[in-house]
Amino acid sequence: MEIYGHRGSAGTHPENTMISFQEAARVGAIGIELDVHMSKDGELMVIHDEKVDRTTGQKGYIKDMTYAQIRKLDASYKFKKKYGACPIPSLAEVLEWIATTPLLVNIELKNNVFEYRNLELVVLNMLYHYGLKDRVILSSFNHNSLVRAKSFDSTIPTAILYSYQLFEPWTYAQSVGADALHPNFRTLNDVIVSAAQHDRLAVRPYTVNNADKATELFQMGCDAIITDYPEKMRALFS
Ligand code: G3P
Ligand code: CA
Repeated sequence: MEIYGHRGSAGTHPENTMISFQEAARVGAIGIELDVHMSKDGELMVIHDEKVDRTTGQKGYIKDMTYAQIRKLDASYKFKKKYGACPIPSLAEVLEWIATTPLLVNIELKNNVFEYRNLELVVLNMLYHYGLKDRVILSSFNHNSLVRAKSFDSTIPTAILYSYQLFEPWTYAQSVGADALHPNFRTLNDVIVSAAQHDRLAVRPYTVNNADKATELFQMGCDAIITDYPEKMRALFS
């Protein structure tokens, strides 16, 4: 079972920060999952929410702030300085570091609330620049965005994110050209995993933090789980 650290190691470290990604690498995750938004001046920033409020204790939308303004913030709000100040990283900063590691990276395009101009192209060009195209999975709840990414590069791996039951998700995924299912784990069952396997689609449910559930998903045949606790899950499957 492959382990992807959700937002790094979000259960133990400030989510979507360098220290969280480094922790996922330290404990042996095969890859990390991260979220991408675009700033007012076109920089790709690694943060989950459209707003900075929850993770920094400050206020504002990423789309309305410049890179310089965002970089002044501290994303360690929830952890109350336990790990020192943790800036919101740019995607470039994370990819530059990933290139020095063997990690895989699941980039979630967070364009399901706001449209970010040319997001897919900007991400693809960055992946080419850092030589990471073969170590990436692009995912999104906005499946049109995945279709756009494939239209620019038909060989870029994509995965549909979904949180509710879909009819025949394996058929649907192929209809939008995707290579994998990234479902909320609650939507999965044996029939779906078997059909996906038959059609050579990988299945990587999120966000799996419970050991019994992880074991059940492994027995179902899932390829990977995306978890806030990569250390705990690594111990379970090593
Ligand atoms: O990629 C899996 C998961 O991260 C999707 O949901 O809301 O945690 O970004 P969310
Ligand atoms: Ca995500």
